[in-house]
Amino acid sequence: MNFQTPYYWYDLTLLDKTLNVLSKTAESYGYKIHYAVKANNNERILRRIAHEGYGADCVSGNEVLLAMKCGFHASKIFFAGVGKTDDEIITALQHGIGALVVESIEELEVISELTQQLQRQANIILRINPEVDAHTHGNITTGLKENKFGISESRIFDALSIMRQSSERLLFRGIHFHIGSQMMDFDPVRELCIKVNAIRDAIVSEGFYPRIIDLGGGLGIDYDYPEGQPIPDFVNWCQAIYDTLRLESGEEVHLEPGRSIVGQCGMLISKVLYVKQGEEKKFVILDAGMTELIRPALYGAKHAVRKIKRMGENNRPVFESASISDNSELYDVVGPICESSDTFAKNLPLPPMRRNDLVAILSAGAYGEVMSSEYNGHTKPRVFYSDMKLSDEEH
Ligand code: LLP
Repeated sequence: MNFQTPYYWYDLTLLDKTLNVLSKTAESYGYKIHYAVKANNNERILRRIAHEGYGADCVSGNEVLLAMKCGFHASKIFFAGVGKTDDEIITALQHGIGALVVESIEELEVISELTQQLQRQANIILRINPEVDAHTHGNITTGLKENKFGISESRIFDALSIMRQSSERLLFRGIHFHIGSQMMDFDPVRELCIKVNAIRDAIVSEGFYPRIIDLGGGLGIDYDYPEGQPIPDFVNWCQAIYDTLRLESGEEVHLEPGRSIVGQCGMLISKVLYVKQGEEKKFVILDAGMTELIRPALYGAKHAVRKIKRMGENNRPVFESASISDNSELYDVVGPICESSDTFAKNLPLPPMRRNDLVAILSAGAYGEVMSSEYNGHTKPRVFYSDMKLSDEEH
């Protein structure tokens, strides 16, 4: 007997190992970590990450409240996002969070007014759009002129002038950059750091001294063969920064990884409803679709799909060999949703598939459960963990 599909299954041992490697790496470089809550806001996972002493990168008032509830210290919470509502800004100020990451002059003006009304101070980090191409999928690129994120370089001085006018209430704490997500090589990171050196110098020449230099997240994970590299390359990410960023005394590097912390520890388990012989293809139709994991439909993202042989200890799936065997067949692996984009893989070699077989869709810990929806009347996927037994199943 198995848990009822479809469900997310989290390998907490892998999460702990990943956190351990990240913490050691960050510590050795002296860098501070803020977990990007948007990647996965599952409370058990958040609590585990908060326990590591990290800060949180939040993008809504609710994320700020959730992060605090799950043990992140308010002073280590940064609140970014291009469209913060007045209520969200007020909530953040009232809870004394670490900093508001401000994405426009217009937002800075509103924060200035609100701090005046509330008679409070706000720690401000200016997010700057550095015009550096992350060379990743267009939908997850954020550091180009055409993107809505951050203050353009040409307007930095306007922002500083507002900071100067409201200097009793707006406290300048640093600068922030995030150029994109799922970066698999470090050239864009180096390019960013070189840009940051120049931007920081320009800001210092105006009499503003950033303590925090936040370089965002974006470290990619191996979606093709996750078993080969379950823990992302934190060392080379930090080393690329170390090699190119000129850090002045009193300045701290902050990083905001999301995907690289949680991506590989989650998988989506689904059951084969039908193996349908089409005119030209064979379709494996699953009980999970874009409602449970939207990344393939939204970004054309690839996730490895494995046929499950049996459930091992603690319901950890044991896969049939990932290599292409003699009797492999080609399948399109699709979901049940009424959209053609509801497709996980095309022409994928898999061992012969039958109704009721189980499959695992790997590397689904980031932007998986958190982006699931109830479209087509689906209920939100259930969630199980590597430390649960079947009898622990919660409804
Ligand atoms: N910091 C900022 C300001 C961000 O906008 C993001 C992600 C991160 C940190 C974390 O980036 P990460 O380390 O996870 O790459 N739903 C898309 C990804 C959207 C990323 C949005 N921003 C996907 O499934 O690929």
